[in-house]
Amino acid sequence: MTDIKSMKLYTHLGRIYRELGELGIMVDDELSVDQLSAFDQLHYHGTQALDVAMAMLGVDGGQRWLEIGSGLGGPARYLAAYSDARITALELQPDQHEVACNLTERCGLSQRVEHVCGDFLDYDRASASFEAIVSWLALYHIPDRPRTLLNCHRLLVPGGRFYTEDLIARGDIGDDQRKLLQRDLYAITLRRIDQYQRDLEKAGFEVELCTSMSSNWAEYVRLRLAAYRADRARHLRVHGEAAVNAMAEFYLAVNRYFQSGKLGGLRLCARKPET
Ligand SMILES: C[S@@+](CC[C@H](N)C(=O)[O-])C[C@H]1O[C@@H](n2cnc3c(N)ncnc32)[C@H](O)[C@@H]1O
Repeated sequence: MTDIKSMKLYTHLGRIYRELGELGIMVDDELSVDQLSAFDQLHYHGTQALDVAMAMLGVDGGQRWLEIGSGLGGPARYLAAYSDARITALELQPDQHEVACNLTERCGLSQRVEHVCGDFLDYDRASASFEAIVSWLALYHIPDRPRTLLNCHRLLVPGGRFYTEDLIARGDIGDDQRKLLQRDLYAITLRRIDQYQRDLEKAGFEVELCTSMSSNWAEYVRLRLAAYRADRARHLRVHGEAAVNAMAEFYLAVNRYFQSGKLGGLRLCARKPET
């Protein structure tokens, strides 16, 4: 089985501290969510994507939200800062979890964001613990989709919402291509958009919105690669050769898969029925 660290985005985590250093922010300094948001969002379109989710889900006071695959904690901090919700941020990788805890504490948000390190497949908090479950570019990493969705259904209150932006397959993907996608993107569960929607319905959800993001994200990753290459000299000065080569290879691979027409994405919102 491929290791998640074969995906180069998850190496050289010190990048975020180097970027903050460029702004004159030292390791123990206090921080704001807005200072961080250019560096701590590991999905497409950064906080704009989170604004879309908040508009769709509503941000009524006192809600409890779970984010699956919370990375460096960027989405969880932003949601906590711009809503009244309390966020549980679940992250598999201990090194990312540790960075996330440090940044959240320095933002003064530790009372609003609870960081938990673990695998969602083992996550056994009490049933009906959350009004919403959200996830950006994480569910495609998790091997057992039926079990993942049944656990989401169990964890939500009746009427609760499930919201995700995730990677999907477009058409059939051969075994060789799947192996490469596992190595470069740790893509373990890639479903087509129609299958994704059906999986949710089978788990007991009513799908309210299911939109393809494939063309939009193909353009986003193309421009991201071009911008990273154009600024290579600056990145080398800040991060050094090993980190820059890792990121450049990652952006190149993602762009290649999107432009091949085999990889795409979706935005989906579903509801657990009241009864
Ligand atoms: C592409 S990152 C996105 C992070 C965050 N959602 C964001 O948008 O900034 C996906 C994250 O999901 C985490 N992840 C993968 N499998 C997981 C699992 N089974 N349980 C919890 N987290 C998981 C990864 O470790 C990674 O940090």
